Amino acid sequence: MIKLISAAKPLKGSISLPPDKSIAQRAALFALLSESTSTISNYPEAEDPQTALSCIGMLGAEVIPDSSEIEIKGVGRDGLTLSGDIIDCGNSGTVMRLLSGILAGSGVQATLIGDASLSSRPMKRIMDPLSRMGAEITSADGGYPPLHLNRKGPLKPMRYTLPVASAQLKSCILLAGLFGDDVTEVVEPVPCRNHTETMLRLPVDHQNGHTVISSYRGLELPSQNLVIPGDFSAAAFWLVAATIVDGSDLMLPATGMNPTRNVAIDILKRMGADITIRNIRTEGAEPVADLQVRSTELRAVTIRPEEVPVAIDELPILSVAMAFADGTSRITGAEELRYKESDRLSAMGTILENAGIRVEVRKDGLIIQGRSGKPGKSTMHDSMNDHRIAMSAAILSLKTDGVSEIRNAGAASVSYPDFWSHLDSVAH
Ligand code: S3P
Repeated sequence: MIKLISAAKPLKGSISLPPDKSIAQRAALFALLSESTSTISNYPEAEDPQTALSCIGMLGAEVIPDSSEIEIKGVGRDGLTLSGDIIDCGNSGTVMRLLSGILAGSGVQATLIGDASLSSRPMKRIMDPLSRMGAEITSADGGYPPLHLNRKGPLKPMRYTLPVASAQLKSCILLAGLFGDDVTEVVEPVPCRNHTETMLRLPVDHQNGHTVISSYRGLELPSQNLVIPGDFSAAAFWLVAATIVDGSDLMLPATGMNPTRNVAIDILKRMGADITIRNIRTEGAEPVADLQVRSTELRAVTIRPEEVPVAIDELPILSVAMAFADGTSRITGAEELRYKESDRLSAMGTILENAGIRVEVRKDGLIIQGRSGKPGKSTMHDSMNDHRIAMSAAILSLKTDGVSEIRNAGAASVSYPDFWSHLDSVAH
């Protein structure tokens, strides 16, 4: 799909955000593990969360859709059985890595496959610790999918310090640990998103400045009854769009405000962004708020290393904000961006450069010379089939001197199927 984007008029109105992809996928996987029925409201239509539903269906969960909510009848930790032997995780790293933990723990034999993008994402990071726990897991050469999990005896518990601040890795080990008689502990030196421990109500402790999360078979797993909040990672596109397009004033009701997800607000505010947070409340276990954002001039910013894991999915769109700021902005310590749905450092480097923005792509980050509010060049962009790159390129194109073309724009549906119609409704 190709989309043409022209320089925008002021962005006005209100956007109904897609439900949070990260929370939704977990709600589905954790509902499978529960012995009771879960009722999930506002479940997303986006591709990744739908993949999670089809995967749990293959493992025995009964998914009953209603108009506004879905019901999932779980099978419990001891009831998992696979129909067939191949599970297709589509584009979703979260589904593949979390499901690997569940399958390794439960001893269900399976092969996990994914699309071309997922098939080039590193899985050694989960294979090594799962093997240490006693799982038998093999992959294609180099540690890439497909992953083959073979039936094995009970897993050994482990105390594991995360070598990389990855919520998918943390969750994978904790889910495997749920099948062990003794306690598995994951030590988290640098915080990353906490949805797994929150939604499963896992014990969380603090030792020597590190967070330690535990799991074991003795923990009763709650059913997942919740309303999925608006996806903060989707909100970030509009926060940047309305900030850089002059005269904009946009509302984002019911935006997820989990503090391990919304650090991009702090970063944008350091840049001078005009974001008002109203009506903070709790929906299920998650804080939500109504956000208002108005356009303003930005100054350059340096992202702090501890901010990288808690703003990881927002870094591409933050690099667009940096492109229009006054001065030189820096993202460092973000090599993880190279292992997402695309190599996001190189993808954003190309996109910014094509739009006439001076950018240096480093091994672990970007150095961006801001244009102090001056529009960029209209051009042709390729999303590299990465949803966040497609949407970042589109927002960048709102602040250019003509019409830009976004190729492979359909990738946005992985997390935000209504992105293009929302863009039309607020920007033109
Ligand atoms: C996710 C964790 C992050 C994030 C991804 C979703 C999750 O990945 O980039 O979009 O749902 O746990 P990593 O764990 O690889 O950092």
